[in-house]
Amino acid sequence: MSSPLRIHRQAGVTLLEIDNPPVNAASAALLRQLREALAQAAADAACQAVVLYAAGRSFVCGADIAELQGPAAQPRVDLFNPVMDALESLPKPVVCAMHGMALGGGLELALACHYRVAHPDSQVGLPEVQLGILPGAGGTQRLPRLVGARHALEMISSGKRVGAQAALDMGLLDRLSADPPRAAGLAYALDLLREGAGPRPTCLRQVDSGGLDAAALRQARADAEARPQYPARLAIVQCIEAALTQPFRAGLAEERRLFEQCRLSHTSQALRHLFFAQRQAAKLPGLPADTPLRPIRKIGVIGAGTMGRGIVTNFLGAGIPSVLLETRQEALDKGVEHIRRTYDGQVAKGRLSDERVRAALDCLRPSLDPADLADCDLVIEAVFEDMQIKQDVCRMLGVRCKPGAILASNTSTLDIDVLAQASGRPADFVGMHFFSPANIMRLLEVVRGRETAPDVLATVMRLSKTIGKTAVVSGVCYGFIGNRMLESYLREADFLLMEGASPRQVDRAIENAGLAMGPCRMLDMAGTDVAARIVIEQEKNGLRPDDPAYRAVVGRLLETGRLGQKAGKGYYRYEGRQAVDDPEVQALCEELARRHGIARRDRIADQEIVERCLYPLINEGARILEEGIAYRPGDVDVVWTHGYGFPDYLGGPIFMADHVIGLPVVRDRLTHYADVKGNAQGYWTLSPLLERCAAQGTTLSDTHTNRT
Ligand code: 3HC
Ligand code: NAI
Repeated sequence: MSSPLRIHRQAGVTLLEIDNPPVNAASAALLRQLREALAQAAADAACQAVVLYAAGRSFVCGADIAELQGPAAQPRVDLFNPVMDALESLPKPVVCAMHGMALGGGLELALACHYRVAHPDSQVGLPEVQLGILPGAGGTQRLPRLVGARHALEMISSGKRVGAQAALDMGLLDRLSADPPRAAGLAYALDLLREGAGPRPTCLRQVDSGGLDAAALRQARADAEARPQYPARLAIVQCIEAALTQPFRAGLAEERRLFEQCRLSHTSQALRHLFFAQRQAAKLPGLPADTPLRPIRKIGVIGAGTMGRGIVTNFLGAGIPSVLLETRQEALDKGVEHIRRTYDGQVAKGRLSDERVRAALDCLRPSLDPADLADCDLVIEAVFEDMQIKQDVCRMLGVRCKPGAILASNTSTLDIDVLAQASGRPADFVGMHFFSPANIMRLLEVVRGRETAPDVLATVMRLSKTIGKTAVVSGVCYGFIGNRMLESYLREADFLLMEGASPRQVDRAIENAGLAMGPCRMLDMAGTDVAARIVIEQEKNGLRPDDPAYRAVVGRLLETGRLGQKAGKGYYRYEGRQAVDDPEVQALCEELARRHGIARRDRIADQEIVERCLYPLINEGARILEEGIAYRPGDVDVVWTHGYGFPDYLGGPIFMADHVIGLPVVRDRLTHYADVKGNAQGYWTLSPLLERCAAQGTTLSDTHTNRT
């Protein structure tokens, strides 16, 4: 393994070059070498100044996050502060020269240097909060000393990156230089030597409040306390308070204590798990990273309905020329009008400029003529969820599209392999399952058919990054990863309503458990008709359980015209966007309970609601793993946190089951409900994988699926 640090000497200056690809993370090995190199520089009479810089695309992008895991992490974290001290106390000027990004522990290295220069295009930030921790290498104490407490609190609490010019303006940087980092650092060091400038330890500076008065601090504390699921937020405020009120060393000790507390929290473990899971999801076992990609210069979307409009907007935003195809002029006009209105809204909110919108709309070609698809490199169908219609469309694509074009379907439930066969080009065929609203939701489930070619898969995965999506690959099964798990959750929600819970109680219990939206509100937003029709299709295809009460509430809502928010009534009645409890829904549930012989209860505990909705969902996730539908447990967690409003601080359903609830508890409660409710339909049958892991004391997260 090559060394992460190289030492050069030039004109009396020691140049420390960090080279630790891919992102120059400050690993334990790098920190040890830095400490040694600094001791040498201090002792070297020929060394008059030191420059710290990095090779590659960026300066240091933080501590090595993988090294923050587990009990061995503390000694590794403890390597940071001695290096910071060594930099700061060096009796010769130390310059940090940054380019690309300087993040987390990387920026903290820069803060401990005496002078800072950066490329004008570079960005700096302390994003630790996004991992549920805080800057733990002196950042909370040094940053306020450079930029004032107000800016420091803003930067550390938000985790947002700041551009070089803004960083210069606030006093974080001393100079900008468009030269390569080594040249920029050396020039600065020589200027300093010429001027006779000496060391300038940040720790000796006074903290300026920068306008952060007692009231503002109280407010920051109250905001942080309101979100106890994210303990780092409060810890950050406490560190800034320490910087304002205590000497540097005491502040540093407080930071150290709080950092460790946060690092060990469930929240940070969950967020770090998701950081890696999201990056893992992009990698496909058995698919080499250098798999050749098919060029995507122009795309087509078929159907300008709810999904087609949103899907095409993603490509327009990325500047990719797009054909939007419909069968009827009216539907096409409606779709285009909707896209325009969405853009107008973005302009009004100041999120997009007129020029960006014009450029995006210039890429759009609305059409009624399938011949316009002939030169598209990728075509995604988003027509009605009807097997016959979709097969006809796929057949047409097989005839019309050029050889080598990728053919994709946005179906949420239909069999991708059947559609692939209809196209006559199964190797070119793939599922691209976007989520509604497709221009906003970040998740993209990429469905790998039996015959999907590796380069098709690789191309779609790369393209997903271009259009700002997080892609997860799923095998072919009913509902893929996300909707298959959702099914059991929605099943129990309807049963709970028939047993006596109100939509509000179900939603509140689920939202208190951390999900962004309860099932009833969610279905009202999506349209209860969409949900009910899926159940009707299941029945047609023999996929619905032999249980007349199965998802009976949503079916009845469709029959009575309660289609959700768009109809002003669904699980709730709507006054504007306000959801109001509706006695008619209670009556409807009572009637269904009578019809299906379901006993009603006066009181259903919130805990029962949470267990009955979430534990079967976890159980289904375990089945998805044992069937190899998902490549990895983390993929399931990414699907749920990015597509279904599952709280990131719980890490996703699999992480939560393993590390928050505990698999034996999940197993015991599922068994309990099988006992008390009966299990004629197999609703509570344990996944053999879950049962085995619970018995052996292992976790689902440790499961390696056998899918390749
Ligand atoms: N530690 C370990 N690995 C890291 C890492 C880090 N800090 N940052 C990125 N990586 C790895 C990724 O896992 C990925 O590895 P892979 O190729 O094996 O999957 C690889 O580097 C490239 O990362 P991305 O795919 O994310 O590349 P991008 O170019 O899209 O983004 C980035 C680059 C903006 C640096 C992004 O990776 C990022 O945001 N990284 C995290 C930055 C961060 O949070 N730093 C703070 C760390 S905690 C800390 O410093 C504590 C200190 O205060 C003590
Ligand atoms: P929609 O009913 O809003 O739109 C479908 C559009 O397709 C209509 O405008 C129709 O005129 C057009 N169309 C039908 N046949 C066509 C043909 N042969 N050629 C060209 N256009 C044709 O439907 P929606 O909701 O957009 O769904 C589309 C697909 O996306 C379905 O497969 C659905 O399962 C899937 N999906 C829907 C989600 C949702 O929340 N609505 C979420 C994820 C996937």
